[in-house]
Amino acid sequence: FGLMTYDPGYTNTASCKSSITYIDGEKGVLEYRGFPIETLAENSSFTEVAYLLLNGQLPTSDELSVWRDDINHHTVVHENIKRQMESFRYDAHPMGMMISTVAALSTFYPEAKNVQDPENRKLQIQRLIAKVPTIAAFTFRHSQGHPYIYPNNKLSYSKNFLNMMFRMIGNDYEPNEALVKALDILFILHADHEQNCSTSVMRAIGSSEADPYSAWAGAAAALYGPLHGGANEAVLRMLTEIGHVKNVPEYVSRCKNGELRLMGFGHRVYKNYDPRARIIKKCADDVFEVTGRNPLLDVALELEKIALEDEYFVKRKLYPNVDFYSGLIYQAIGLPVSLFPVMFAIPRTVGWLAQWAEMMTDKDQRIQRPRQVYLGERNLDFVPISDR
Ligand code: CMC
Repeated sequence: FGLMTYDPGYTNTASCKSSITYIDGEKGVLEYRGFPIETLAENSSFTEVAYLLLNGQLPTSDELSVWRDDINHHTVVHENIKRQMESFRYDAHPMGMMISTVAALSTFYPEAKNVQDPENRKLQIQRLIAKVPTIAAFTFRHSQGHPYIYPNNKLSYSKNFLNMMFRMIGNDYEPNEALVKALDILFILHADHEQNCSTSVMRAIGSSEADPYSAWAGAAAALYGPLHGGANEAVLRMLTEIGHVKNVPEYVSRCKNGELRLMGFGHRVYKNYDPRARIIKKCADDVFEVTGRNPLLDVALELEKIALEDEYFVKRKLYPNVDFYSGLIYQAIGLPVSLFPVMFAIPRTVGWLAQWAEMMTDKDQRIQRPRQVYLGERNLDFVPISDR
């Protein structure tokens, strides 16, 4: 291939230099801006982690309170966005609604195209982080035929989201604190994961200097697929299909003979237990204490046990990933399965934007434009259609 490197799937190509997220896949290590994910999940909040990812350091309490106000300032969406959402079919997939609605936001903020201006970038980042949960909750209310609940800026980021999802007009719904905490931890764990498929798309679209709403929509479309952020939905459907621990061995055999993939297992970078899955597994216990045990947990535990001892999975270093247990928690909280990829997109918005902002100030970055190895024919003679 001459001087070119042939690397399908980019298994060995660094597309950028970054100081945001560190992964050691062999050891199962994940750090945001140098802080181990375990420490952040235990001690931090999602808004604080968002600040960290975007600014490179933890905020002081004054900085955090300004940052929260900045986000709260933008949580409401234009009424015409609401009207546009009302035009979707009642059974539209929430991810489809999210992708097109956030793309539509770019038409409400045409100044977002001015991506070279750092102050303007900051404003669009705050807007996106603030509005994505509102739109996400609206997709759910739409599918239920319930009136949309507007954001309540007195609540934390995660609590406000649950409030917009589940409050009924005229009642005093109060999200359970244990569930709010679990959701906040899940948001922290999903906030960034260096150059994964959707983040690479965010950077690729951003590299052409498109506005961040359009780039977000592209990144979310990449996340939607079942091999990426759609895996949490696929896991729950798989566990439901298996239904009982007695059916697990047969299902695992079908995965081994190539008929199926064991969803929520395997990772391009982790060749060890995904540290996020370990934290989520612990978090599930706290949630089930409030909601009652999700019966599908037994199926998941049995799948993990059999797979971790089986030569097929051991040889290929296939371990549970972030998507394996997260859906069990979402389901226990009362979220519909089709909303699970949206639950990934809400916090990943922060990672996409942190990576986009980093790229916009990186002098090395140019428009992303990979090369190819051409295998087709050349210099053919054109045959008129009547002679073909
Ligand atoms: N079940 C059964 N076999 C698998 C699985 C699986 N989940 N994952 C990989 N393999 C096998 C694969 O068939 C291949 O075997 P062989 O060498 O015999 O051909 C080998 O393991 C290597 O797989 P690969 O497809 O080359 O690995 P990859 O790095 O290209 O793919 C992956 C990574 C995550 C797409 C893949 O493991 C997968 O499809 N997992 C299931 C979907 C999933 O859980 N995705 C969520 C990923 S984590 C969160 C996120 O990024 O969104």
